[in-house]
Amino acid sequence: METSQPIGIFDSGYGGLTVMKEILRKLPQYDYVYLGDNARAPYGNRSFDTVYHYTLQCVEWLFEQGCPLVILACNTASAKALRTIQQNDLQRLNPNNRVLGVIRPTTEIIGQFTQTNKIGILATTGTVQSGSYTIEIEKFYPEISVSQEACPMWVPLIENNEHNSAGADYFVQQHLRNIVAKDKDIDVLLLACTHYPLLMNKIQQSLPAGITVLSQGEIVANSLVDYLHRHPEMEKRCSRHATRTFYTTDSAEDFDNHASIFFGQPLKSHHLAL
Ligand code: DGL
Repeated sequence: METSQPIGIFDSGYGGLTVMKEILRKLPQYDYVYLGDNARAPYGNRSFDTVYHYTLQCVEWLFEQGCPLVILACNTASAKALRTIQQNDLQRLNPNNRVLGVIRPTTEIIGQFTQTNKIGILATTGTVQSGSYTIEIEKFYPEISVSQEACPMWVPLIENNEHNSAGADYFVQQHLRNIVAKDKDIDVLLLACTHYPLLMNKIQQSLPAGITVLSQGEIVANSLVDYLHRHPEMEKRCSRHATRTFYTTDSAEDFDNHASIFFGQPLKSHHLAL
C-alpha cells in the first residue's frame, strides 16, 4: 500500500495559510498537512526558549505524520527556532528529513525590489529582536540598509478579525509613520509576518506613493518549487494525491470559521491535543 508522505506546513496560528495558499497554486499535486498552534498563539512576544520548544513539538508531530519536509510558514518560528532544530534536533529526529523557514528565501531575493537600497521590515517583536532579517540581508546584499519596526498589535487585530475595522487604522498608521520616519528613502517594505497580508489594503492606502509592499507567500512558494527541483531525492519522497489536511491545537470549529479569510476558501480542520 502506498503511504502518504505529505509536505508539512506550520504556523503559530492562521498566518501560514497565506503561504500555503500560494504554495498550492504552484505545487497542487502534492499532499499537505497544515498545523496551526492556535492554542498557544501568538508566538510574537514569547521568549526564544518557548518558541523553540513549541515549534520543535509541532515539527516532531508533523514528522510522525510522515512528512519528509516541513515548512515553518512563520517568521517568528523561523527566526527563533529553525537554526536550533536544524543543528541540534534533526539528526536525532530523522536525519533525512528537512525543515525550511521563510526568512532565507525572502532575504535571498529582496535586493531585486529596491532602487534606493533602503528596506523596511515590519514584523513581530520576536522577529525584530532576533535581528535575523538584518543579519541575513547583510549576507546577500551588504549595500542595503535595513530599518525594522515591531508591530505587536497587528497579529492580535488580525486573529480577532478586526483588521478591516476603523480601529485598526490607528495601529496600522502608527507603525507605518514610524518606519518611514526611520529612513525617508525606504522604497520597499516587507511584511515579515505571515499574518500581515490581511492588512495589505490598509497598508497600501496609508503609504506614500513609490513604496513597494512585499508579502512572502509567492516568494516562499517559488523558493519551494526551486528547492524540490534542486533536491530530486526529497521531491521523490513527497507523495502526490493532492490531499490537504488541517490541524489546529485550539477549537476546530473556530479555526474553520476564521481560516477562510487567510486561505481564500473554506476548509475543515481537526483538533490536535499536543
Ligand atoms: N505568523 C507569525 C509570523 O510570521 C507570527 C504570529 C505570532 O505572533 O504568533 O511571524
